[in-house]
Amino acid sequence: TRPLKVALLGCGVVGSEVARIMTTHADDLAQRIGAPVELAGVAVRRPDRVREGIDPALVTTDAAALAAREDIDVVVEVIGGIEPARALITSAFENGASVVTANKALLAEDGSTLHEAAEKHGGDLFYEAAVAAAIPLVRPLRESLAGDKVNRVLGIVNGTTNFILDRMDSSGAGYSEALDEATALGYAEADPTADVEGFDAAAKAAILAGIAFHTRVRLDDVYREGLTDVTASDIASAKRMGCTVKLLAICERAADGRSVTARVHPAMIPLSHPLASVREAYNAVFVESEAAGQLMFYGPGAGGSPTASAVLGDLVAACRNKLNGAKGPGESAYTQLPVSPMGEV
Ligand code: HSE
Repeated sequence: TRPLKVALLGCGVVGSEVARIMTTHADDLAQRIGAPVELAGVAVRRPDRVREGIDPALVTTDAAALAAREDIDVVVEVIGGIEPARALITSAFENGASVVTANKALLAEDGSTLHEAAEKHGGDLFYEAAVAAAIPLVRPLRESLAGDKVNRVLGIVNGTTNFILDRMDSSGAGYSEALDEATALGYAEADPTADVEGFDAAAKAAILAGIAFHTRVRLDDVYREGLTDVTASDIASAKRMGCTVKLLAICERAADGRSVTARVHPAMIPLSHPLASVREAYNAVFVESEAAGQLMFYGPGAGGSPTASAVLGDLVAACRNKLNGAKGPGESAYTQLPVSPMGEV
């Protein structure tokens, strides 16, 4: 059987882990897929940086040329951001490849362009790694529950803010003190704005609402409030009421099923709710559906290895489809529902 050729765009924390696992688990992957997988090129910004275990002959700074190569079966995009990622992904589809991406910002901002390009050219678009890293969410919502009707998704989808709120709850620390601890432990970025202001969670809420309700929700449609105003006394009051405070991404379908809503804000949840037990930087997503009832998905929602795990699962699926001439869920599976502002559902 001919080897399937993979182009890796980006070789940072996630990309280098993807490359490493592709090499160390090559035999297992070949067995899972039914053909060997070959890393055919790695696009990086700074080729001078040493990348252990990657053949220097595969490294290029010309991501556009690599993404457009007609012999590539699957392009893995782990660069992040809107451009050049969007142009590279579009070009990959135009040249016959399928795409695996971890790019939550791009999917939340302009998922339609990617889905339409995939549909037009017959490729697969997989993005399990874009929401909560290794926790299987995209495939369960998009496929396993596609025959059911999901009515609500409640998620703790940002590890940094969950860590901060957990510290405030368990030690009585104030917000700044807890943020400093999160920074020292490497959870929060040097600029933690995207986390603490809820932008990161809002992008994930847009993606989750889209796949849960088989529609499209954009970042701009998501009501967003971060946790910078949550005080130690808010947490203490919640405690007295038998609750804890979590930054939740809440996606709901209207009772008449005709519209959906998505929002991110701090919320009090009773200690008896399973989401209340999600500590430190863990993520969890609670799903309510008509036939299945209540489901909870839990695990590490960030980090190189957990994110690479999700990318590799998608890579296996995309390669299997390439080999068998099959295709994952596409544009025809979606209906555009109106997205109501918060409170109208
Ligand atoms: N900054 C994110 C978090 C990382 O804290 O969860 C993954 O998106």
